[in-house]
Amino acid sequence: MIETSPPPSFSMMLLVILSFLSIFSFTNTHAHHCSNDFLSEAKNRNLINLTFSKRYMESNGVEVAMYLHENTRKLDIMVGAKLKEEEETGWLAWGLNPGPEDRMVGTQALIGIKTKNDEKLLKDTYNITSYTKLGCQLLPSPIDLNISNFNFIYISKLKYHVILATIILPMKYDLSRLNQVWQVGINIGAVGNKELKMHGKGLMNYDSSETINLWTGKGRGNRVHESSKIRQVHGILNIIGWGTVLPIGVIIARNFREFPLPWLGWRKYHISCQTIGYLVGTTGWAVGIWLGKASKYYSFPKHGTYGIFIFAFATIQMLFFKFKPGDRDEFRMYRNMFHHVVGYSLLIVSCINILKGIHIMHLDYTYWKPAYLGIVSCLAFIFLVFEIVSWFKFVCDKFGFWILCAKCIPNEEANEKKGSREDGRVQPSDTPINN
Ligand code: HEM
Ligand code: HEM
Ligand SMILES: *[C@@H]1O[C@H](CO)[C@@H](O)[C@H](O)[C@H]1NC(C)=O
Ligand SMILES: *[C@@H]1O[C@H](CO)[C@@H](O)[C@H](O)[C@H]1NC(C)=O
Ligand SMILES: *[C@@H]1O[C@H](CO)[C@@H](O)[C@H](O)[C@H]1NC(C)=O
Repeated sequence: MIETSPPPSFSMMLLVILSFLSIFSFTNTHAHHCSNDFLSEAKNRNLINLTFSKRYMESNGVEVAMYLHENTRKLDIMVGAKLKEEEETGWLAWGLNPGPEDRMVGTQALIGIKTKNDEKLLKDTYNITSYTKLGCQLLPSPIDLNISNFNFIYISKLKYHVILATIILPMKYDLSRLNQVWQVGINIGAVGNKELKMHGKGLMNYDSSETINLWTGKGRGNRVHESSKIRQVHGILNIIGWGTVLPIGVIIARNFREFPLPWLGWRKYHISCQTIGYLVGTTGWAVGIWLGKASKYYSFPKHGTYGIFIFAFATIQMLFFKFKPGDRDEFRMYRNMFHHVVGYSLLIVSCINILKGIHIMHLDYTYWKPAYLGIVSCLAFIFLVFEIVSWFKFVCDKFGFWILCAKCIPNEEANEKKGSREDGRVQPSDTPINN
């Protein structure tokens, strides 16, 4: 069924892909120096010299400043974040993980809790274990750090809640590989026993750890630094493949086959669109699988499951059309029905999953969401226009409302030709309507 000459659309597609890549230009806004206000507050509070300071823009905007007294292994820290004001409660956590990796389980945490309307600011130490991750009650407990001057305050000038403390680092903490973990949450349990409830489930919450080198003052080995560009590549490839090229191919197949614009080249263009869309989308999906494997300690089960369904059904779709149905009309009819139902479902599920991906990455409030919604509405608009035109034409041809559209007359010729058509055609009224 595939025409042998390579369709010229390939180079066109490449152009489209390249222009998309330039729309979603890469920027890495993750690591910033601390804000000046935060630094000046830190200086006012005994952190005159700084060993390390950083603002984690994409991790709840948490800012960390610390100073290591090298001879005594004494570490002064100040950790600040804007807890959501409109929420009534909130908590800010910061801790060190003595284990080999910067991860939640094992963290010895200092946590500050804000109760309703800032009535009370509570603070305590928490030993985060694998039971915490399983959802067991998280209550204060002694931790394996020698802490003094621990305080949780509100700095109204910055609108920040801030943890301040001085820690004597035990020998088991490697100063060149110190695993710091932080987190921001909203919900708390009973105030009396300082119980905490889980934080959010986006990358903003999962990227909140880093291994830092106190000798050089640099953070390194953080997941975001290594993979934020790869995540963007994953997103762009999926948006282009599943979200743009595939729907264009569907529009071509639906509207250029017969109604409203009969065009002999439609099959060639449909097949090349779906092939390119499938290859680009599958590459993006494979990058997603790789990313999911690379991030050992968290996952996005729904996004991943939808992704696997999209890949699986698209693959079936690609394999299926290789089948030559022979002459049997009945089989061809079922095959076409399957092809159409799976095709439209794929478009809808892809759209949902792309929005989920954008949400996971917290890109809702950037240009990503408007850009994608722009693509979707352009495609939907084109689809709708074709739909209206083709129904109009269909009604004209069928009932001969010549007064309404005199130009329909030449179509009688085309209608006569229909009888000799070979491939399984479907009238607009037979095809499932995309909603
Ligand atoms: C009631 C308290 C908490 C619960 C129930 C909880 C639960 C979880 C769960 C289930 C995940 C993994 C999600 C997944 O597998 O997809 C996770 C990840 C994470 N949590 Fe928590 N958490 C709590 C408190 C904390 C605190 C206090 C911190 C910081 C000190 C923290 C830091 C992190 C980090 C950095 C991750 C990313 C994955 C990792 O490093 O293991 N969490 N949390
Ligand atoms: C229909 C299109 C998409 C498919 C089929 C897809 C597929 C996948 C799959 C299979 C995973 C692995 C899930 C896991 O095991 O945790 C994944 C992860 C991910 N996807 Fe997508 N995805 C799509 C669109 C997007 C978009 C548009 C974005 C963002 C703009 C995005 C962002 C992410 C992120 C941030 C991860 C997690 C990476 C990590 O674990 O570090 N995805 N995706
Ligand atoms: C800061 O560093 C200077 C010189 O390195 C030192 O003289 C001073 O004592 C330090 N201040 C504190 C608070 O440690
Ligand atoms: C923290 O919890 C772990 C696991 O339950 C335990 O092995 C460890 O001794 C606890 N640490 C402290 C300081 O209580
Ligand atoms: C904690 O540090 C202080 C000051 O250096 C010291 O007096 C105290 O013994 C330490 N406590 C523990 C349990 O290490």
